[in-house]
Amino acid sequence: MSYAIGVDLGGTNLRIAAVEERGTLLEKVTLGTQVQRGREYVVGQMTDAIRHVTTKYQDHGKLIGIGIGVPGFIDMDTGTVRESPNLPGWSNYPVHKDIESRLGTKVILENDANAAAMGEKWLGAGRDTDDMVMYTLGTGVGGGIIMAGRLWHGMNGMAGELGHHTVLPDGHICGCGNHGCLEQYASATAVVRMAREAVANGLSDALANASRNDVEFSSKVIYQLAIQGDKAAQEIFNTVGHSIGIAVANMVNALNFPMYVIGGGVASAWDAFHNPMMEEVRKRSFIYRVTAPEAVAAGQKRTIVTRALLGGDAGLFGAARLPMVVNGESSAPA
Ligand code: BGC
Ligand code: NA
Ligand code: ZN
Repeated sequence: MSYAIGVDLGGTNLRIAAVEERGTLLEKVTLGTQVQRGREYVVGQMTDAIRHVTTKYQDHGKLIGIGIGVPGFIDMDTGTVRESPNLPGWSNYPVHKDIESRLGTKVILENDANAAAMGEKWLGAGRDTDDMVMYTLGTGVGGGIIMAGRLWHGMNGMAGELGHHTVLPDGHICGCGNHGCLEQYASATAVVRMAREAVANGLSDALANASRNDVEFSSKVIYQLAIQGDKAAQEIFNTVGHSIGIAVANMVNALNFPMYVIGGGVASAWDAFHNPMMEEVRKRSFIYRVTAPEAVAAGQKRTIVTRALLGGDAGLFGAARLPMVVNGESSAPA
């Protein structure tokens, strides 16, 4: 059976998967991304790992191609990373050409969150819809818009930068240069930053203790403390929820799509931010209120805000899906 390679280049992990055309996972490799060692190192790590997997499956079937999700603005016309707030040193790098020539195989480059949207559309929460919006809450906050079954790329390929929607006009400075972007209130990075602020303000002994171990102080640990009842940790996820809710409400009002999917590592803290998120969606989106699941009778069209079904694997499956579809149309039955 033919298969494709998907690569998810994250701020924390570099993951590579071999996925069959019908969506079966053959192999998944996870390597730590050593972003600080520079682009050349990471690209070397990536191409080595891809070669390793393709060699292993060379008798399995035809290699359809390689899809790579990159956390930054991809210029589709030139195959370059135009800007990457969370991958220093990658800006203006012709990643497409470089990797294709190193591997000698067709490579499709896509923004990481766009790839995640493809994954959820293919095998996850968006399977039954042609119009959906995806958010990935990870090191940064990414977005992807699928309209009429296809990724919406915009003029240069940069559409769907939903992490840079302003949710607080004079808020925290963002890597993009703006103040108060969603990314500064709903990413894993932001959760840790807000926790450190809480510690500096003497708001929580539990957070203060946890923060002493720098390496282990993650959004996951902070979520655990929230579950255990730490008020300051709960407040942080309240902020996450309100911020993402404001952003989603604006998208519901703009697009009237049926499905908004929330994924990425921070989505594991769903229980801690779901209520404040939905409070904002209800308050700020008239369209949501009249099309909410509980507002319409069974069978009618409705708006759904839901968790990603593929969890952290959405971007990986989606990246593998990229070479399987030509111009957004499936080249093979899903
Ligand atoms: C970048 C996006 C990316 C997201 C998630 C943001 O800071 O601007 O391109 O999709 O992080 O990695
Ligand atoms: Na995107
Ligand atoms: Zn920003």
